[in-house]
Amino acid sequence: MTLNNEKIELITDCTIDRKDGNIEFAEMKNSRFCAVVSECDFSGSEFHRTNLSGDYFESSDMSGAYFEEVNLSGAGFERSNISGAAFTDVNLRGAAFEGCDLSGVEITDCKLDGMTVNGYDSSELIEFYKNNHKDNGNMKKNARKAIIAGNWKMNKTRPEAKALLEELKPLVADVKSVEIVACVPFTNLETALSVTAGTNIKIGAENCHFEKSGAFTGEISADMLAEMGVEYVVLGHSERRQYFNETDETVNKRTKAALAAGLKPIVCVGELLWERECNITEEVIARQIKLDFFAISADDVKKCVIAYEPVWAIGTGKTATAEQAEEVCAFIRAQLAKLYSEDVAEAVTIQYGGSMNAKNAEELVSKTNVDGGLIGGASLKAEDFTVIIKAAENG
Ligand code: 13P
Repeated sequence: MTLNNEKIELITDCTIDRKDGNIEFAEMKNSRFCAVVSECDFSGSEFHRTNLSGDYFESSDMSGAYFEEVNLSGAGFERSNISGAAFTDVNLRGAAFEGCDLSGVEITDCKLDGMTVNGYDSSELIEFYKNNHKDNGNMKKNARKAIIAGNWKMNKTRPEAKALLEELKPLVADVKSVEIVACVPFTNLETALSVTAGTNIKIGAENCHFEKSGAFTGEISADMLAEMGVEYVVLGHSERRQYFNETDETVNKRTKAALAAGLKPIVCVGELLWERECNITEEVIARQIKLDFFAISADDVKKCVIAYEPVWAIGTGKTATAEQAEEVCAFIRAQLAKLYSEDVAEAVTIQYGGSMNAKNAEELVSKTNVDGGLIGGASLKAEDFTVIIKAAENG
């Protein structure tokens, strides 16, 4: 059978078996399709569970078409527009594409061995696709500024804080592409702000309360920090959750208070070791992201930084592998895309934290979805912290 100049809309579960003659193309049920298709318009058509094995398509428009569970093994495509088409669970073994526009094609869970495009076989193409894909990811990554933030925790007196920052300043003075932040104890904020004034080092606090003011002995409000010139604030750190009973609800309230005061929250999420061992890392992270950012607008979430800090990696010397860090950071981005939009997800800086040091930083920050780090121990040594910052410059 030969098709010429046809408009085809939906082909599903086909059984027609190499018959000649006219066919109604609005919907073909259970068809075995035909041998030669020439100059046909399949743009935007859907093909489901159809056997097109060995068939030949030339000079046809298949742009934006959708192929699902279709057998295209040994099929030939010549001078056809296949741009923007999607192939899901399709058998493309031995299929050949010659002179076709394949821009923006999506291929998911397909069998590709022996497939060729303009004479290149599928293994070369897969390699090309992977590199290309990485480039795309990296382009998006490059659009985000990496942030390397030190979390000093309960360390350093004022003179020690001053000495550390004085040592750090000249070491990082030429860094432009990375945002450098030192999150310091409340008692060091004033010192840190004055030592770093006019430099490329920003100052953050390690927590803030969610109320604006009132009878909350020992607490510090977001407004108090903002008034001092503090820019960042770490919220929901696992040590606060673990030792000071902070919950996702209070992290959510603190995040809203920080945003209202004009601070940039660094919101920490991460699973416990037993949660990872029970294979519920994604559930834990999804829950934290959903609750910590509950009722926070898309514009506001873009002002936040998210730090993925697996609790088992904090202060233990046990770093997550770069692959584990990438996997969860990518998962966090996917959650943001789900809760907000692709644009919001691509705009948010997602850091890794947990035993990041001068030796392992380069590999961690090279990952597509890891936009820097939240560093504890290694941020207390100017030289080590500098090595991490320089790694992020190249990452
Ligand atoms: P360490 O880098 O000391 O493991 O601490 C990580 C951390 O908790 C940063 O917030």
